[in-house]
Amino acid sequence: MDSYCVMGNPVEHSRSPWIHARFAQLTGQDLHYGRRLIPLDGFAEAVRAFRLEGGKGCNITVPFKFEAAPLATQLSARAQLAGACNCLRFDGDAVHADNTDGIGLVSDIQVNASVTLAGLDVLLIGAGGAAAGVLGPLIETRPRRIVVANRTQAKAAVLVARHEALAQQHGVRLEAPELHAVRESHALVINATASSLGGAGIPVPASVLRPGALAVDMMYGPAAQGFMDWARAHGAQPRDGLGMLVEQAAEAFLFWRGVRPPSAQVLAELRAILD
Ligand code: ATR
Repeated sequence: MDSYCVMGNPVEHSRSPWIHARFAQLTGQDLHYGRRLIPLDGFAEAVRAFRLEGGKGCNITVPFKFEAAPLATQLSARAQLAGACNCLRFDGDAVHADNTDGIGLVSDIQVNASVTLAGLDVLLIGAGGAAAGVLGPLIETRPRRIVVANRTQAKAAVLVARHEALAQQHGVRLEAPELHAVRESHALVINATASSLGGAGIPVPASVLRPGALAVDMMYGPAAQGFMDWARAHGAQPRDGLGMLVEQAAEAFLFWRGVRPPSAQVLAELRAILD
């Protein structure tokens, strides 16, 4: 049976094994998907060992997404732009790497939440790995403007500079202002920071939320609650990162198996389990 896994640290909370087992059932694919807790200094060795055991591919989660690219013999354009990978596929001597986080977020917003991104004003809060993984696919949907706002402004400026050519190609305005200067309202606000994990408040004022704006936190569960409550209290439509999680998994499943599973059904099932 073909074998896959998610590698991370921590990884015990990961819903990926459940999601991929359900995808396999629904598409009639014969595979096993496990989870592996990887020592912080042992990622490359863990990938090597899994390949030797006959593993066909893996997902990569915190904190190893930046360590995966150097292991790849073929890197997708979006993984290259993100500078990070969330899945590998082993194919003989070849190691293919991709990043499906961005397309997962875009699918969740456009398909599951029925919000068309073209022409919108978007605020992306954060400039770490999570933000870097989604900026390219967001640009490709041709919003009017994307403001990347980060506590450390220089990181946002670097991220924006790396995506400038893609943005010009798609006619999208990219900006990286100082975080405290961001006040004007946006139709879509995406929280890609870890601020709620540390118990910190929302790093932007409520004026950034246009009435009825979609406000997405890329996390889910308790980590997303503060942002969701804040968005709801200020007239926005809150959305957690569970849909993005399932959609990025569906794209990874496609990358490995050549079949796209019914992600909306699996998202509904997962929400029912977690609620
Ligand atoms: P991830 O891979 O989850 O993005 P990361 O690369 O460490 O993790 O990035 C964390 C992001 O959350 C960064 O944008 C960080 O801002 P800085 O670049 O200034 O560090 C942001 N962040 C973390 N804690 C925050 C807080 N209390 N307020 C605002 N932003 C915060």
